Amino acid sequence: MHLENISLNNFKNYESAKVHLSKEINCFVGKNGSGKTNLLDAIYYLSITRSAFTSQDVQCMKHDETYFSIRGEYEIDEKKRTAICGLQTGKKKLVKLDDKPYRKASEHIGKLPLVLIAPDDTDVIRGGSEDRRKFFDAIIAQTDQAYLQNLIKYNHTMKQRNSLLKQFLERDYFDITLLKQYDKQLIELGKLIYKARKQFITAFQPLVAQHYQQISEKSENVALEYTSHFDEDVEMLFEDNLAKDRVLKRTSIGIHKDEYPFLMDDRHIRKFGSQGQQKSYLIALKLANFDFLLKEKEVKPLLLLDDIFDKLDDFRITKLMEMVASDAFGQIFVTDARPERTFGIFENIEHDVKIFSVEQGAIQEIDGRDNWVIE
Ligand SMILES: Nc1ncnc2c1ncn2[C@@H]1O[C@H](COP(=O)(O)OP(=O)(O)OP(=O)(O)O)[C@@H](O)[C@H]1O
Ligand SMILES: [Mg+2]
Repeated sequence: MHLENISLNNFKNYESAKVHLSKEINCFVGKNGSGKTNLLDAIYYLSITRSAFTSQDVQCMKHDETYFSIRGEYEIDEKKRTAICGLQTGKKKLVKLDDKPYRKASEHIGKLPLVLIAPDDTDVIRGGSEDRRKFFDAIIAQTDQAYLQNLIKYNHTMKQRNSLLKQFLERDYFDITLLKQYDKQLIELGKLIYKARKQFITAFQPLVAQHYQQISEKSENVALEYTSHFDEDVEMLFEDNLAKDRVLKRTSIGIHKDEYPFLMDDRHIRKFGSQGQQKSYLIALKLANFDFLLKEKEVKPLLLLDDIFDKLDDFRITKLMEMVASDAFGQIFVTDARPERTFGIFENIEHDVKIFSVEQGAIQEIDGRDNWVIE
């Protein structure tokens, strides 16, 4: 699978741009703030139906504009496919594949598998447990549409249960039968989600450990665990926490409280890992993400590497580049603020490499390896 070309209109700092891509390696070089990450974000958007960096879709519209659109033409199993994402002020987000609009944007997720490695994005390691749940949900969702729909229903039901608890307190009444209907739904959906998460972690954990060993010179033992209220008798936990939920007006039991502890020699990496160890763990998670999608989808996901040369040390860059050279990956997109470094790294790689210069929202290919010179 690969992206043949992408067109942007009013997406972030791009007014209008079209890029014809290499099937193999694509590098985007340009000064800070020129639009390199924004371009990767547009590719991410076409797969995941949202930005990787902003939670609000309207922030993807170029300043002072009223719409944006992204169009990508892919080749998958020798078939052409076209994905379009767009938004117009005051309207619902549009997501189309081969000219057919989806009823729900979420139904598109998983059709165009993708992994983004942005080494600065260490929220998944250092942030709260919600960041880790989001991270894994995004991976499972790309391989399991039923999981994603169950999760959406679960979150919706939980919101309803929380507003009901609020109503009870505000209007000073209590209806146990009504509340129990929500509990039942949450438990039913929760069980399905729990089972999928548990299965996923069993397959994912060895991949993380294996990649960590490969990219770090150290021999710490890393582990990834999964704990949930659903490990116990969850019906009883709902009963036991009823009084507390009524006071807090929140649902305190459920899969929205699941934890994925990241451990290194039995200690939490978040608290005790050095910056280098945390970064290695993040890369290991992402490479495991790549392997997992490859195995489940039987296609190599697009791999987006944002600023990795700047943020990783030589050893880890060498390891990653060995993988790039070894055909482990499919189509790759790389950004770098320093062209000479990119030229040096890709000069001797025997793949089809295209280098593009990005300048204030304009993208231009630097033709031929002979022209990879520093002015
Ligand atoms: N909605 C928007 N409309 C217009 N410009 C935007 C919008 N959102 C972001 N930008 C601009 O895009 C630029 C940032 O682009 P981007 O993050 O892609 O840069 P970059 O080339 O990756 O830089 P760096 O090398 O620093 O990572 C900034 O100048 C920012 O102001
Ligand atoms: Mg950037």
